[in-house]
Amino acid sequence: MDLGLAGQVALVTGGSRGIGRAVVEELLSEGARVATGCRHPEELAGIASADDQLLTGLLDVTEPTSIDAFVGKVVSHWGRIDMLVNNAGKAYPGSFDTLTDEDWQRDIDVKLMAQVRMTRRVLQNMRDGGRIVNLSAIFGKQPNPRFFASSVNRAACTSFTKTLAKSVAARSIRVNAVSIGFVHSGQWEGRPQDFFDETVERFDVPLRRFGRSEEASHAVLFLLSEAASYLTGVILDVDGGMAAYL
Ligand SMILES: NC(=O)c1ccc[n+]([C@@H]2O[C@H](COP(=O)([O-])OP(=O)(O)OC[C@H]3O[C@@H](n4cnc5c(N)ncnc54)[C@H](OP(=O)(O)O)[C@@H]3O)[C@@H](O)[C@H]2O)c1
Repeated sequence: MDLGLAGQVALVTGGSRGIGRAVVEELLSEGARVATGCRHPEELAGIASADDQLLTGLLDVTEPTSIDAFVGKVVSHWGRIDMLVNNAGKAYPGSFDTLTDEDWQRDIDVKLMAQVRMTRRVLQNMRDGGRIVNLSAIFGKQPNPRFFASSVNRAACTSFTKTLAKSVAARSIRVNAVSIGFVHSGQWEGRPQDFFDETVERFDVPLRRFGRSEEASHAVLFLLSEAASYLTGVILDVDGGMAAYL
């Protein structure tokens, strides 16, 4: 199916590995032009692309000056941004007893505030009809005390997606989220098979496995595409059936 994304300009945060990398590669294969950045941009060097289809660079989504510089670079190169994927993220697992103030602040900065700041900056250069997809976690709707900060801060991200969707709908900009259960990605690399087996048992994942990064990126591309033209404010769970809420 042609997703109608050829020639459009996408900014994907954190494209060096995991879900972000899969989103970047899938967008490139659809003929989109893609800008992606992360804190270790040398890890973006191996991504295959056609001439003038890929722009990479240093980006720290927790630093407003870095966001401003990266978005400025994309806009001066391609003149606009049609799609934003707020993907970069990191987990600060821990219980209420173990999480420090610093952990809480870092988690808020890399999740909620990164999405807020990047979106605010990109909207200055996004035309009517643009699309935004935010990565999130099902713990934001199904809290878990082992992932205390994620549960709290992803709930805020869910509200951010839905509130922003209402706020930019008059410009025909659609805002949706892909909410992850467990997906095999950079953050789980190096764990033994026992860890994955025990995790799917403990969290009662009906499909009895972690997802693959491309299973998450397919959902992101669907939401970016014309096939989702009447969807906004949707939180789409990619979780192998793990969420227990209706
Ligand atoms: N995989 C899961 O099971 C799971 C579950 C729930 C939610 N999620 C969410 O899904 C998204 C993608 O996760 P993933 O598992 O694919 O992660 P990952 O494999 O660990 O990759 C994270 C990407 O984000 C970049 N990044 C991290 N901190 C950054 C920062 N401050 N500024 C810019 N880039 C940054 C990393 O590059 P650098 O380190 O070089 O910066 C990397 O490119 C995240 O938002 C995550 O919270 C994932």
